[in-house]
Amino acid sequence: MCGIVGYIGKREAFPILLSGLKRLLYRGYDSYGFALINNGKEIVCFKKPGKLDNWESRLLKMKFEGKIGIAHSRWSTHGEPSELNAHPHWDCQKNIYLVHNGIIENYQTLKSILEKEGHKIISETDTEIIVHLIEKFYKGNLERAVMEALKLLEGAYGLAVVHKNQNRIIAARKGSPLIIGIGKGEMFVASDAAAILKHTKKVVYLKDGEVANITANKFRVRNLDGKKVEKEVEEIKWTLGQIEKKGFKHFMLKEIFEQPESLENALRGRLKQSKIKLSLDIDINSIKRIIVVSCGTSWHSALITKHLIEGFTRIPVEVDYASEFRYRRPVVKKGDLVVGISQSGETADTLGAMREAKARGAKTLGIINVVGSTISREVDSGIFLHAGPEIGVASTKAFTSQLMTLSLLALYIQQERGNKVNREILRELKNIPSKVEKILENTRAIKKIAKKFKDSKGFLYLGRGVNFPIALEGALKLKEISYIHAEGYPAGEMKHGPIALIDKNMPVLFLATKSCTYDKIMSNIQEIKARKGKVIAVVNRNDKRIRKIADYIIEVPKTEEYLSPILNTISLQLLAYHIADLRGIDPDYPRHLAKSVTCE
Ligand code: AGP
Ligand code: GLU
Repeated sequence: MCGIVGYIGKREAFPILLSGLKRLLYRGYDSYGFALINNGKEIVCFKKPGKLDNWESRLLKMKFEGKIGIAHSRWSTHGEPSELNAHPHWDCQKNIYLVHNGIIENYQTLKSILEKEGHKIISETDTEIIVHLIEKFYKGNLERAVMEALKLLEGAYGLAVVHKNQNRIIAARKGSPLIIGIGKGEMFVASDAAAILKHTKKVVYLKDGEVANITANKFRVRNLDGKKVEKEVEEIKWTLGQIEKKGFKHFMLKEIFEQPESLENALRGRLKQSKIKLSLDIDINSIKRIIVVSCGTSWHSALITKHLIEGFTRIPVEVDYASEFRYRRPVVKKGDLVVGISQSGETADTLGAMREAKARGAKTLGIINVVGSTISREVDSGIFLHAGPEIGVASTKAFTSQLMTLSLLALYIQQERGNKVNREILRELKNIPSKVEKILENTRAIKKIAKKFKDSKGFLYLGRGVNFPIALEGALKLKEISYIHAEGYPAGEMKHGPIALIDKNMPVLFLATKSCTYDKIMSNIQEIKARKGKVIAVVNRNDKRIRKIADYIIEVPKTEEYLSPILNTISLQLLAYHIADLRGIDPDYPRHLAKSVTCE
């Protein structure tokens, strides 16, 4: 998830690239770079980690000349944000320069082949191998060399390539968006229309497997077999603000709807036939106990981690708030693995807890979204979520990507310790993104419930087992963006006090999908109904029993019980979002909250 801009035409490219890149920063960036062909003489390349606007005035004074150029704002997936890992990347001869958005799954294999052939790969990224492949196939025709290289890639790419002796840009996509902007005597390439809207509204959307050969006055699109593809020029209708949110009203809603794609990215390259592939620098067989520390929504992931890892591996798992763990002189022994879960990788309490664990001799593992973040750089090993930038303060896609990644981790430990891997879970993991898509296709029932309960004074969320943490998460989502007080509780705990809260005005939401405690949930619902509580139940599509007694139903597809939290939480994210929106609250920036809590 990054930003690509390219320009070829009659004007100086640099100001267009710079302003275009600034329009793409919401796509997340930790570093950026430019390459311009300086009137056919040489290629000028500049790239840096950090924030683009810290450099803008100096960049404009640097007088980068040239009417052909490409630019990139990076959201790192492989290799931390650094000058070397920033894009563009170049070939050994420094003739070819490339920017890329996406993940190349087979880059290590290709990297070892290229290095054996004498290519010097200098960065830690997956991207750099692409430009060396193009160099390997380049015999004077840049488009053909790019096509040959692309045929060897597994994974996702949106890319733009220039050669210092060629007056053209080659663009290609598979899995990551890329468009061509049509101007008068000039052409543009961009990850999305926000970057070029001020220059043209005429665009061509590249499809997966297409390669565009772009010069100042024309473009030609072919598929990877070289067959010409006719493309329709379309008119952009959106305003800039709409484009940044892809037409969604808020970033939070956009990120909820990105979850099929972000879950695919969490799986990408890590599930090969029946093998889990994670490169962890941890001796899995020496683990005697696992302690999971985190905060907020990430702490809810930690609670689910306990179910997954104890369920699949029988290794004892302890879960602790990071803010508690770090100050209670924790008992940490040899053989302990401390896992820190953090979307931002910067949360002060989680960072402090991980440092405390390390100081007491534990091995540490990070489950992180932001590459190059402090926690990701300090742990012994880690797994990145690849969820892309999460702008909304309330965590949604990062949470479900945490659950997907932690499911992979639990299966990986099972596999590496020689146990039989849970094949049903392994098979079902691949179906999760499409099942999330199904939920997102029909949100009518959720919107109706949001309308009904938007002025409630309080909400109870009840669940059991692996879905009790989802009750906590649903309550947190509602609290933090609609300001309605909500509590998550183990359904079995209601009779020990909280049931006194029940009356006809108290909506009670049950996580009631198929599980080993389904009948218990049924009884809990009866207890609430007997006290005039209003029951909302999240159930499976084919459920016949609960729909007879609940007041409102939210249906989700059936899945393995261990994976049901991923599907169930989508409905609760949407419920909280629509209630907040109906209450006129901007869910992207809820009061008093910050996206990353870097203070204690
Ligand atoms: C999630 O909706 C909240 N915004 C918050 O609880 C968040 O999960 C918590 O601050 C932890 O953040 P982290 O995952 O970046 O460490
Ligand atoms: N995987 C590439 C990298 O880590 C591209 C990341 C992106 O899409 O920005 O550099």
